[in-house]
Order: sequence, then C-alpha cells, then structure tokens
Amino acid sequence: MRIILYTGKGGVGKTSVSAATGLELARRGYRTLVMSVDPAHSLSDAFDLDRGLMDHESGRLVSVAKNLWIQEVDVQEEISRHWNSVYAYVAALLNVSGLEQTLAEELAIFPGMEEVSSLLYVNEYVRGKSFDVMLLDCAPTGESLRFVSIPTTLEWYMSKIFKLERRVAKMVRPMLQTFTGVPIPQEEYFTNLQSLHRKLSGIDKILVDPKVTTVRIVTNAEKVVLKETQRAFTYFCLYGLTVDAVIVNRLLPHEVRDDFFNSWKDTQEKWTQSVEEFFAPVPVLRLPLFPDEVLGIERLKRLGKALYKDRDPSQRFFTEAPYRFRKVDGNYQVHLRLPFVTGTDIELYKKLDELIIRVGTLKRFVSLPPRIAHCEPLSARIKEGELVVVLGRCHAQRETQSEGAPAA
Ligand SMILES: Nc1ncnc2c1ncn2[C@@H]1O[C@H](COP(=O)(O)OP(=O)(O)OP(=O)(O)O)[C@@H](O)[C@H]1O
Ligand SMILES: [Mg+2]
Repeated sequence: MRIILYTGKGGVGKTSVSAATGLELARRGYRTLVMSVDPAHSLSDAFDLDRGLMDHESGRLVSVAKNLWIQEVDVQEEISRHWNSVYAYVAALLNVSGLEQTLAEELAIFPGMEEVSSLLYVNEYVRGKSFDVMLLDCAPTGESLRFVSIPTTLEWYMSKIFKLERRVAKMVRPMLQTFTGVPIPQEEYFTNLQSLHRKLSGIDKILVDPKVTTVRIVTNAEKVVLKETQRAFTYFCLYGLTVDAVIVNRLLPHEVRDDFFNSWKDTQEKWTQSVEEFFAPVPVLRLPLFPDEVLGIERLKRLGKALYKDRDPSQRFFTEAPYRFRKVDGNYQVHLRLPFVTGTDIELYKKLDELIIRVGTLKRFVSLPPRIAHCEPLSARIKEGELVVVLGRCHAQRETQSEGAPAA
C-alpha cells in the first residue's frame, strides 16, 4: 500500500500531476485512488468530467478509467456524517456571540475540518485495504501542512486537554448555562470527538512511515516558488514525512527558439540547478511545459509519460528522512544524514532563516522553521554518519568547538 501526497505552491501543477500519476498507475494495474484534499476542487476539471456527475455523486468515489477512481470530499456532507455534535456546538457558540445563524453555521466549518474529513477517508481505505495506491492532491502548501499536522495535534489534544475539558464542562455546565447563556459543550460533543479520534487512530503512524507515505513537492523554476518549496520541504521534514521527489513543472522545452523566451529559459535553467543543489540527494524530476492546457485523459497520460518515463510512480524514489530537528537542554539540534563525511572540514553559515552547511565541496541548505530561525549555530559534529548542528539563542554562550567543526 502506498500513499503519495502532491503538494506545492498554488497553481504549480499539483492537480495535473496527481491526475497524470493516477492514470499511469492504473495503466500498470494498480487499483488507484486520486483524492482531492483541496477544498477548491479541480480534479474533475483536470479529467474534463461533467460537474453534474460529480455533484450527483456528492463527494464519493467516481470511476474514471479501469483501476482508477477519483474523489472530491464534500465537507458539507462530511459534517453530517462525522461532525454533527462538534459542528452544532461551534455554530451555537458563534450564534450567541452575536453572529447571525447562517453566518455562524458557515463559520463553524473551522479550518481543519476539511483535512480531517479527508483523513477519515484515507484511514478508512487503509483499514479496508481498498486501494494499492492513494494519491492525495493537496491544497497549496500552508493547508497541506495543516493536513499532516492534524493527527499529531489531535493526539496531543486528546491526551492532554480532552479529559480535563470534559470534566470541567460537566461541572460548570448547569451553573454557567443558567447565568450566562453561553453554551457549554454537551456530552455528545465529547463523544463525537472521541469517535473521530478513534476513526483517525493509526493515521499518524502511517503518514510518517516512508515505506507507505511519501511527499512529492511540485514547483516551478522561479525564485518565489522555489522559496516556498524549500519551506515546505523543511516543514514536512519537521513533521517526520519523507519527501521522495521534487517535480519541476512547466519548463520551456528545448525546441522553443523564440528570442522572447531566452531570458525565461536562462532563469529556469538557473533555478532548476538550484533545486538540484538544494534538495540533493532527493531526486528532481523535470516536466516540460505542454503546448496547451493539460485537460482530459489523453493529455494527462502524456504528462504522466513525460514525468516518469519508464519508472513506476509507486516506487519510493527516496526513503531517508533528510534531516530532523530535536530540542535538547533548551537548544535546538539539526540532524543531517551525511554518511560519507568525516567531520574535519565543516563550515556553517547562517543567512536569515537559512543554515548553509559546507562539507568539502558539498553544500547543503537547510531552511529553519521560525522558532529556530533566530538562533545561532553553536557547534557542529559528525556522529555515526550524521551531522549534528546545535543552535541556540543569540545571547547564549557559544560552546567551545570541542568536537572538531568550526561554526562560522
Ligand atoms: N506542464 C504543463 N504544461 C501546460 N500546462 C500545464 C502544465 N502543468 C499544469 N498545467 C496547467 O496549469 C493549470 C494549473 O494546473 P493545476 O490545476 O494542476 O495546478 P494546481 O497546483 O493544482 O493549482 P491549485 O493550487 O489551484 O490547486 C491548469 O490549467 C493545467 O492544465
Ligand atoms: Mg489543484
């Protein structure tokens, strides 16, 4: 069983690539699902399907080819299936706070509900062994990160807050409700959350298991897009997900000779090389700009061929988590797998939110999450094939470089 997330900045080609991958997998005989996790669904448009058909199916599986199904999760329907009491409570709360009923109901679809709804399906299909491969066409990066962070957040909430909140609600409900009119969650709210939690259990482990789940970040060879790609890479890493390919889409083909595109071609080449430097050893796949929109099964199949050539898209193109962050004794550590490095020749630079590590001729860029971005490198050492960089507060005492590597 494989789960592959396709993510990246808005408009880079996530949906087209997910759909094309689905067709290629189905052609190879894998029972494949492409699920749109983006509330602004466009999966059926990529397949050039009749919207009416999708509406009629209301968010359920639609067969688009032999071995291939697509699904656009309909949050309204999911609310009635899974969220009734939670939703009713939030809407009631917003309503007492002065919001008009319909607006309160609209706002009660709070961020995360869509993502959880999709995760519920993913977990259901995993448990039922319904598909060989599930491709998740994610929303632009920010929301995809919420998608992968929800299972851990829910775990945290359920283990740390839930029981207490339930007990407090039980105690204060009669009194507060009488005097303030503010609704306190009813017992059903808690049972509803508990049941959601049960249905989601196990998905957190599945998402961080590189044998099952990998992320493919789609990007374009432009500076602004690339910056977001780097951030996404760091965050997925932070959540323990493995990125197994970076896909550079919409590259001008060599046969385009028009002078108008000369600068574009140079720019694209420059940034594609940067992509290869930044993300090495994660494979970088190049995908040309097609002569027209990639709509409908035939064009999508061609896109799939251009992307994977003869490779099986369900392969894990890269299985190692490239780096991880830890907090030890108040300092942060960045661990990078560098199996061939001896540790005699490491240089560290920090430029804004980027840690640049030079080991001999090898240069590695690590974009730091905001919490760590203002910290300074204190020390670095190589241990069991891993480079460990310690970062601490600017005013913290610098450690002596006892274990070899200078911190620049
Ligand atoms: N290689 C390509 N050549 C030509 N057109 C492309 C290519 N890749 C994508 N497109 C077109 O670009 C448009 C946007 O692509 P797509 O919808 O796949 O992007 P997306 O990243 O899913 O966008 P969103 O962030 O809005 O979900 C579509 O019209 C698609 O047909
Ligand atoms: Mg899309």
